[in-house]
Amino acid sequence: MALRTNQELLSLAKRGGYAVGAFNMNNLEILQAIVSAGEAEKSPAIIAVSEGAIQYAGLAYIVSMVRIASDQTPVPLSLHLDHGKDLDIIRSCVENGFTSVMIDGSHLEFQENMAITKKVVEMAKKRGVSVEAELGRLKGIEDKVSVSEREAFLTDPQAAEEFAKKTEVDALAIAIGTSHGAYKFKGEVKLDFERLKEIARRVDIPLVLHGASGVPQAVLERAERFGAKLPGAKGIPDDTIQMAISLGIAKINIDTDLRLSFIGAIREVLTNKPEEFDPRKILGPGREAIKQTVQTKMRLFGSSGKAI
Ligand code: G3H
Ligand code: 13P
Ligand code: ZN
Repeated sequence: MALRTNQELLSLAKRGGYAVGAFNMNNLEILQAIVSAGEAEKSPAIIAVSEGAIQYAGLAYIVSMVRIASDQTPVPLSLHLDHGKDLDIIRSCVENGFTSVMIDGSHLEFQENMAITKKVVEMAKKRGVSVEAELGRLKGIEDKVSVSEREAFLTDPQAAEEFAKKTEVDALAIAIGTSHGAYKFKGEVKLDFERLKEIARRVDIPLVLHGASGVPQAVLERAERFGAKLPGAKGIPDDTIQMAISLGIAKINIDTDLRLSFIGAIREVLTNKPEEFDPRKILGPGREAIKQTVQTKMRLFGSSGKAI
């Protein structure tokens, strides 16, 4: 099946009240894990590729692998550039088969973010490629952060409304208190749901939640049992994710949980079978662990059964 755009996948999700997972891919095993999870769950999936992933695997390898995966599976897939910051990389993704790109201008001032986002929209829309932008910064909300400090980095609903209208992006990533990586909260889990409600009331396009990994206890324990050192790792609980979806989030980005699943399985093989040196016997269990994690996410996001 031909690759879909995020616009196609996310408009269905928004209408259906579920979210599509965007899973970061850096190599063959991760891609195969995401696609086979989609097949098992009959769920769409977004294959997210960062600039770092492109640097690691090469653009041509990535596009070729994802195209082949898509040709061979009934799972609706899109190929999406995650956190695009470099206009040259964004352009080469648009010209070489990506069906969606993110322009991450969240570190810029509002007007500059709008200007660069408009540039990308103009470039991408000519080729039917979807665009996601980001407004607000992903930092997590610490207990000690004052209301005014919080206002400075979380997404302002009024600004989000203006940004979405003027840039004509297809999806908007917002900051409501999540952050990237395995250490999201020191104390209590806090997301600003009132802010999300107000943004969803003002903004029509699908909303995106980055930094949404759950750091599941079982996954963490397996990795730690076999030597990983991850003290204080903490993610977003499942019920918080479900609440975010019910309030309007239609795309959810997951990378950390895939990484943790992969290294837990690999560490287990390396620890239990020190005589093993066949990469397939080492990476295979890593691939299987990611598949299990992605299936769990698809059920949580409500996208299972939504691939027709
Ligand atoms: O949000 C970023 C993703 O986790 C990708 O990370 O830039 O290290 O590939 P990366
Ligand atoms: P996590 O680090 O929570 O998995 O977030 C990934 C992400 O937002 C990728 O864009
Ligand atoms: Zn992200």
